Amino acid sequence: MKIGVYYYPEQWPRRQWERDFDNIVKLGLQIVHMAEFAWFEMEPRPGEFQFEWMDHCLELARRRKLDVILCTPTAAPPIWLSQQFPQTLPMLEGNVPGRFGGRRHYNPLSPELRDATRRIVTAMAERFGNHPSVIGWQIDNEYSGPFDQSAVTHAAFAQWLKRKYGDIQSLNRAWGNQFWNTYYTDFSQILLPANRDPKYANPHHHLDASRFWSWAFADFNHLQAEILQPKIGARFLTTNFMPFHLDCDPGDMAKDLSLFSWDAYPVTGWEKDGDDQTYRIADPAAMGFVHDQMASYNSRWALMEIQPGHLNWSGIPARVYPGAIRLWLWTAFAHGAEFVTVYRFRQPRFGIELFHHGLVSHDGITPTTGGEEFARVISEIKQLDLKRVPALKDEHQDLTNTVGIVFDFDQLWEYASVPQAKRWSQTRWLTIWYAALAQMGMRIKILRPDMEWPKQLPMIVAPGLQMVDENMIRKLTDYARGGGHLVLTCRTALMDKNGQAWEGPTAAPILPLIGARIDSYDGLREGRFGQIKFGDAMYSWGVWGDQLIAESGTEVLATYADQFYAAAAAITRKTFGAGIVSYFGVFSEPPLVEAFVKQALGREPLPNRVHILQRGSYKIALNYQDQPVTIPVAPGARFVIGSERLEPCGVAVWEV
Ligand code: GAL
Repeated sequence: MKIGVYYYPEQWPRRQWERDFDNIVKLGLQIVHMAEFAWFEMEPRPGEFQFEWMDHCLELARRRKLDVILCTPTAAPPIWLSQQFPQTLPMLEGNVPGRFGGRRHYNPLSPELRDATRRIVTAMAERFGNHPSVIGWQIDNEYSGPFDQSAVTHAAFAQWLKRKYGDIQSLNRAWGNQFWNTYYTDFSQILLPANRDPKYANPHHHLDASRFWSWAFADFNHLQAEILQPKIGARFLTTNFMPFHLDCDPGDMAKDLSLFSWDAYPVTGWEKDGDDQTYRIADPAAMGFVHDQMASYNSRWALMEIQPGHLNWSGIPARVYPGAIRLWLWTAFAHGAEFVTVYRFRQPRFGIELFHHGLVSHDGITPTTGGEEFARVISEIKQLDLKRVPALKDEHQDLTNTVGIVFDFDQLWEYASVPQAKRWSQTRWLTIWYAALAQMGMRIKILRPDMEWPKQLPMIVAPGLQMVDENMIRKLTDYARGGGHLVLTCRTALMDKNGQAWEGPTAAPILPLIGARIDSYDGLREGRFGQIKFGDAMYSWGVWGDQLIAESGTEVLATYADQFYAAAAAITRKTFGAGIVSYFGVFSEPPLVEAFVKQALGREPLPNRVHILQRGSYKIALNYQDQPVTIPVAPGARFVIGSERLEPCGVAVWEV
């Protein structure tokens, strides 16, 4: 795993570039990431390119044997574009035109933006596509933006719907427009909603709007990818995603990107739970989930941005726990990242991010704590024999030690379109399962609906798959029938992929699988918790609970211990074909999920917030606690880094 840094030469005096490149090398960094927002510097007037400065920076990198990631600068269109073609700017809610400034001030569907994009990307690809130092390209930066309200976008939405449904009657049926007689008679009448809040509008309309808007960014990305691909040889193509961000399903770009990358800012100070210091360290499950999600698309992934210290934007200037940055780098390594690049080298002295830390501080030369931790990991990784760490795609994964978690991005949009339970957070639910499984020492494989699911996995968990289609039901059924342990949870199979409920009992398509009926469900008021009896212990829940009626032959594993429906079943299990299906009918707090997983896998948990992963012939232990822990290690283990006693934020690496 290489480690690199974002550098914005255009933000610093030219006379400092040599010095900065030298200092980048001095810290041991191996990659420089450049050009991300530098559209104006590269094209100060339409069609007039100024690339000499970038030639020079590439030469500075080449002389120092630094790899380079080049970016297309489309996240920050120049003033001349916004001025000449105001229609490239976003049209905001209420038909208020967006203004130039900041960044992301564009509508990805604007023809004039797309023309200007073709011009700059073509020029960059021709100039730098074959440069020996460039190892890959990042397109744009963190695709996102509110639903655009321009006529161009509404028309594109109508066209997209026409391609999807063919005729307007089909759309009326799919959207249930007999409800309140909201029929359309022509696609051109349909507008993209004003924003993501469905209020009391049509949820099916909102669901398709989300899918369309993600398509719009994917289409803009495709435009750039098509220009770059023939000019860059085998170099990777990526864009950097924000985790679970609703504007953009990474899967929509799978065909155009050879490597998936994301941006992690784990210490925001936003955590509400806990009085300890772990909020300064990050949640290893939340981070691990997205790492594994990125790996799921085509087995090549990277951490494009990582927090180097204080953030400027969360409103809470939380100081990062000593050692946490080192821990995050080793975590990326343990999950198979191809590289990590950090945002950013120098802390800016101007602009909105002037309080955002870098690897060096405001003086431009003194390494910050983050800088020191980066340097440390770079030298630690050198102690490993990297020939024994194959690329992720070539690595043999021990599937008997791996659990699948089903992740379908579409569900995030559905949960946002019909917000039936305010306390329900689908990403929290996914993370609770991830955390419980990782604590059992299991490796997690993220399974998307459009990929093969390995039959050998001992367990697949599918949390909250609210919408299902035949393909999904077939995959779930085949897996269980073939001998796996399938775990389904509440709010699964309540609707089809249009978001319409079945004409039949609740969760009709999965009832044969689970061997139970869903009699009713309940959600408790904010801050209130009910109790569930599982084994001999009691556990809390509050978000959502199904009350189940088990068929004969179905075992009841847990029951409600209070409310007027006390004794109703909450978790059931039955054999199905050669396998088992558990129905976890409650969105509980983490301890019940942990107890369930422990019982189902028959393993002893690792210490809380401790993950152990294997890469090639090394095991890596990561301690996300603010306390020291001792980990179980086979006798005679040869430690390359650390020992079985891990300090707070400690890391240990040993040979297997
Ligand atoms: C990211 C963004 C970077 C930088 C960073 C600050 O979301 O991609 O350009 O602004 O946040 O934390």
